[in-house]
Amino acid sequence: MSEEPSELKAVPTWGVGPYPGDPSKDANFDRFDAELLEQGDTRNVVDKYRYWKMEEIVRDLDAHRHPYHVAIENWQHDLNIGSIVRNANAFLAKEVHIVGNKRWNRRGAMVTDRYQHVTHHPTIEGLIEWAKIAGEGGKKLPIIAIDNVPGCQKIEEYQLPKECLFLFGQEGPGLSQEALDAADVVLEISQFGSTRSINASAAAAITMHTWVLQHVFS
Ligand SMILES: C[S@@+](CC[C@H](N)C(=O)[O-])C[C@H]1O[C@@H](n2cnc3c(N)ncnc32)[C@H](O)[C@@H]1O
Repeated sequence: MSEEPSELKAVPTWGVGPYPGDPSKDANFDRFDAELLEQGDTRNVVDKYRYWKMEEIVRDLDAHRHPYHVAIENWQHDLNIGSIVRNANAFLAKEVHIVGNKRWNRRGAMVTDRYQHVTHHPTIEGLIEWAKIAGEGGKKLPIIAIDNVPGCQKIEEYQLPKECLFLFGQEGPGLSQEALDAADVVLEISQFGSTRSINASAAAAITMHTWVLQHVFS
């Protein structure tokens, strides 16, 4: 069998070796992890966080998190949940909420769940109760259901609230009726092809990025 061309081999494209020079002169020295300094840092983190202790990264993220939350229903162990957690980390959601089954497949999260606050709610009612006072100053967080169901509005034409809870359904059934009933508004992401839907983690990424476009870049 012929050798794979070297540029196509699956070598990690991130990571650094042991800290070059004297780390005690670095402004972030107190945040550094002694083992990472010595052995190098191959974690999938942005360069800013190289050599940082995990708890220091979480502390720094906590200081900058966006004020929207992400919730996903998990009645059938949806494999999308890990990817949603990863996307929530990338777009710096305040917290991810898993509604229904507590267990979820962490594979798609690619370890990002360590940097993301993830809360479990056994029922939709529990999530709704929590949302009633979860906004700043104990205000209600608007529940924005994301699904393409009859009567929904277009996310592309909707001004998203700064503080809110985005609620996603799972592969197959989509959002439960209870979840749709609890929503202040239901929004769809416009599609143009033949498939009925995109997967929930893609929908979550588009939704969070739409929030970012409206609240960070405008
Ligand atoms: C695979 S979809 C299933 C349900 C979908 N309503 C259907 O008719 O087939 C799973 C979840 O992904 C999200 N989703 C997928 N496509 C979407 C779209 N175009 N607009 C909004 N949400 C979508 C929703 O949260 C939905 O509950």
